[in-house]
Amino acid sequence: MTGSEATVGASLGPSDLVLGIETSCDETAAAVVRGGREIVASVVASQDELHARFGGVVPEIASRRHAEIITATVAEALARAEVSWDELAGIAVTHGPGLVGSLLVGVAAAKGYCLATGLPLVGVNHVEAHLVANFIHAPGEPAAADEGLLPALCLIASGGHSDIVLVANLGAYRIVGWTRDDAAGEALDKAARVLGLGYPGGPAVDRAARAGNPGVFSFPRPVIADSYDFSFSGLKTALLRTVTTLAEARAGDSAGPEVATAVPPGAAGLPAAVVADLAAGFQEAVVDTLVRNLTRAAGVYGTRQVMLAGGVAANSRLRDKLTGWHRASGVAIAFPPLNLCTDNAAMVAAAGFLKAQRSGWDDLELDVFSAMPLADHV
Ligand code: KG4
Ligand code: ZN
Repeated sequence: MTGSEATVGASLGPSDLVLGIETSCDETAAAVVRGGREIVASVVASQDELHARFGGVVPEIASRRHAEIITATVAEALARAEVSWDELAGIAVTHGPGLVGSLLVGVAAAKGYCLATGLPLVGVNHVEAHLVANFIHAPGEPAAADEGLLPALCLIASGGHSDIVLVANLGAYRIVGWTRDDAAGEALDKAARVLGLGYPGGPAVDRAARAGNPGVFSFPRPVIADSYDFSFSGLKTALLRTVTTLAEARAGDSAGPEVATAVPPGAAGLPAAVVADLAAGFQEAVVDTLVRNLTRAAGVYGTRQVMLAGGVAANSRLRDKLTGWHRASGVAIAFPPLNLCTDNAAMVAAAGFLKAQRSGWDDLELDVFSAMPLADHV
């Protein structure tokens, strides 16, 4: 394919089926999506159990597991969709950003299927796929977001990203804010580790925080002047310092054991009630920071809709706070269902459909990228 041909959009219609493949991190996923919108089948094989004892994703284990189950995952998606290879219009695969070894498995598999079937290939940016999750739906159900309310802002908060994206149209993006250090999900995962809450951390912090009081420990809400950018590394250090101080105080406190028998111990021997308060306080600081920048940007850009995407969009406190803001401001708010917030291949199939429609298919030279900017920062 020549450079000029690559800019010509593929002719794809509402009934065309695309197979999506996702292996950028620790979920092996495959899905079939009709017309870039309707989910026909979506299979996600989580590796959480494999990585839990290490407290985080081990890249070598992740790519090996992807390689073991990718074929079965794709076969399962096609079987559930009751679709054969010759009924597909193309194959979409995440080719960045993510773990290079993991991405390679999905991309190699997709290329193999394309070679064997003659189907065309399209590479997808994982961050765009998260955003597109707002516009896809199960049969008979509405999509989370209203395309008629574009331009809109989307907060993409995951293990690797905390981006505020101005979506003029599907395919036309500008970054309004991003993280200067840790992503929101990464901060929550690290907090869970410090608090002894296990892996994956985000859902564990969310659960623990429900039993806690966010007002007991106060954590900073980092502000970057004249910017909607985020910085979460100071917050993480503040938690570490608080936990260390509490643990040291308990070690020298003779009353400690009595408290410890009243409630099961959490991190560093802290009572579960204290861990719950720490989780609630930390989560509140992360959520406040996300909500503050997002809602300020919505005011300045005058958007009528705000969307959430990425694993952290599953956070119950974030959803509650933004729902409260929606009631007060009247700005529409879109949350994809939980299974479309975390990694899945339906969003990849849909993003691939839209990308192929706009700028054509890719060739089989498609490469993988650990970093892959979605758009320029304004
Ligand atoms: O989008 P995702 O599945 O993978 C990446 O692209 O990174 O996001 C994973 C991140 C993890 O950091 C996980 O802890 C976080 O999303 N997460 C949550 C929740 N569920 C998943 N964070 C907060 N609350 C949740 N309920
Ligand atoms: Zn993701």
